[in-house]
Amino acid sequence: MVAAPKSVEQLTEAEAVAELTRLADEIAAHDIRYFQEDAPAISDADYDALKRRNTEIEARFPHLIRENSPSFRVGATRAEQFAPVEHGVPMLSLDNAFSDEDAVEFDARVRRFLKLEEEVAYTAEPKIDGLSCSIRYENGVLVQAATRGDGRVGEDVTANVSTIGEIPRRLKGSGWPETIEVRGEVYLGHAEFAALNEAAEAAGQKTYANPRNAAAGSLRQIDSKVTAQRPLRFFAYAWGLLSEPFAETQWEALAKLKSWGFQVTPQSERVQGAKGLLDAYARMEAERPKLGFDIDGVVYKVDRLDWQQRLGFVSRAPRWGIARKFPAQQARTVLEAIDIQVGRTGALTPVARLTPVTVGGVVVTNATLHNADEIERLDVRVGDTVILQRAGDVIPQIVRVVPEERPKPEPAPFEFPHVCPCDLKTEVVRETTASGAETVVRRCSGEFACPFQRLAHLRHFVSRRAFDIEGLGEKQLTAFVERGWIAEPADIFRLHAHRDELLETEGYGETSVKNLFEGIEARRTIALDRFIYGLGIRHIGETTAVVMARGYGTIEAFLEAMDKVAARDPEAVEELDAMDQIGGAVIDAAAAYFAEDHNRRIVQALKDELQVQEAEKPKTDTAVAGKTVVFTGTLERMTRDEAKAQAERLGAKVSGSVSKKTDIVVAGPGAGSKLKTATELGIQVMTEDEWIAMVGG
Ligand code: IVH
Repeated sequence: MVAAPKSVEQLTEAEAVAELTRLADEIAAHDIRYFQEDAPAISDADYDALKRRNTEIEARFPHLIRENSPSFRVGATRAEQFAPVEHGVPMLSLDNAFSDEDAVEFDARVRRFLKLEEEVAYTAEPKIDGLSCSIRYENGVLVQAATRGDGRVGEDVTANVSTIGEIPRRLKGSGWPETIEVRGEVYLGHAEFAALNEAAEAAGQKTYANPRNAAAGSLRQIDSKVTAQRPLRFFAYAWGLLSEPFAETQWEALAKLKSWGFQVTPQSERVQGAKGLLDAYARMEAERPKLGFDIDGVVYKVDRLDWQQRLGFVSRAPRWGIARKFPAQQARTVLEAIDIQVGRTGALTPVARLTPVTVGGVVVTNATLHNADEIERLDVRVGDTVILQRAGDVIPQIVRVVPEERPKPEPAPFEFPHVCPCDLKTEVVRETTASGAETVVRRCSGEFACPFQRLAHLRHFVSRRAFDIEGLGEKQLTAFVERGWIAEPADIFRLHAHRDELLETEGYGETSVKNLFEGIEARRTIALDRFIYGLGIRHIGETTAVVMARGYGTIEAFLEAMDKVAARDPEAVEELDAMDQIGGAVIDAAAAYFAEDHNRRIVQALKDELQVQEAEKPKTDTAVAGKTVVFTGTLERMTRDEAKAQAERLGAKVSGSVSKKTDIVVAGPGAGSKLKTATELGIQVMTEDEWIAMVGG
């Protein structure tokens, strides 16, 4: 990640502007990877940190909030697909225990808290490794289902959950509370998971790393018809909101849930005291390989619900329950080869091919090596004996090499490929973040031309903020790519050549074909910034694309400049660098993109199909062209946004802070420190009226 950033309190206004711009682009790029490509590049925690930083900067500099601020997109983007649902009772998590001692201490704690001498009864339930879900029933009818989310608010997945066969749409039997949130785990069995991945692989689609990811991906499908085809399963084990109590013990509650039509884990049992906890764990560990679904431990719960009530919660976890986790399972084997796989976004992932070995009851032949840095860190070489670890997940990891067992003579260190295995022999580049920091990821620079990346790129191309082509969604694109009709953006505009075949395709009629072609034709005339953004060049987000479009004005000027930037022509690089908020990462990405012949050819072919509109270039023949202007204090004849837009139209650059580079400060009533600085620096200061007189408003 990036070097530790300056604290928000220390940021100057200029730094804040730069950072807000960078964050807007970076977050937008992550949103695309997360929502459209289902291939997040960073963890949720890192993503949240970016969002938080953005909000903190905005809180300190409210006047710098951008029109396209990620804060405005929270609802629109993260939850565009699934509406937020507030849980009736929060969905908390459990504390973990890792040893027999921890389990014994849990029992002791419970008895101390309740001041009990007697033995306590517990349920011991398998801890299913899926994703938790809360399903609300009103009068016995399923009315809403939500994911856990942050525990307080989840996502509305009612349509998708309703397709899961093991979840009753109507409760069976009787005795259910008028309102009840039934909680449990949505998961995929091993056999279903293997079949799903096999089918995905055969169709050239993305495979899932483990059953839990596959279950999560399946549950979060926008189209519930897709979810319906995934063999998701469900175990009920808890509840949230209740209109009235329905059981006196957890054990009784499980039996009731079962009688209402839910599956409950048959491996669950009721045990007595600490010894019962330990025995249950040993038994579950032995049964684990035969279960046919992933569990990552055992959950212990105080059986009596009145005692659970008295025990209550400490912060985010109950005192009445604990999760005893299985240790990671390890085995020894030999690394036979390292293969490189190319993901949908072009990221190159090294995969270890192993001599088959059983780890925790599962035969393992592959392990992920994550990236080049990981290989270097482990210093793992083909022929090495390695320690493999499987922790809950199905994709095992190599923890370390056994140095004594390295063959003689020593094998050479692994050399990470410099060209993509996609046959294009494109250069492999190290990925950088928008702020220019190198990451551990290496990518194929083949973009549209790399068969592994084509679909993701085309999806970006037709997406709403790029070419926004109606009627050409993921499903249609995938089908057209498979049929060989579309391989690159220009092909979209030549799709009419396949009109007759399309008419014969199931699901298409005269009207839908007409609509599709109208949707395409409507975009044959396109704004330059959308054209640039649509190319999907790394780090060239919407904002940067607008800046570049304004800077170059025409598609011809843009392409000419890009050729020169690719050749590292100093003048062209400097021109680009001088554009507002554009720096090294954008320049490098543009240069790498346009240095590839196939990218240039693809862009040219696309241009030949289109009329790319001229962008409004900043004027150079006005009184304020090229000047840096700062507005401060209250403006009385126009809004800040108007003033800014007008100044920019006239070729001025508007800045939020006064520095030596400022040419003019327009000060209205109430102007404070900026006016003071301007006077100190001897900068020209004028009133709003004087400004308007000058710019001829
Ligand atoms: S009871 C207050 N029972 O483990 C929390 N959870 O760390 C009540 N899980 O979020 C949860 N199997 O996703 C419970 N038999 C089981 C479980 C189980 C799996 C998951 C669940 C929960 C997490 C708790």
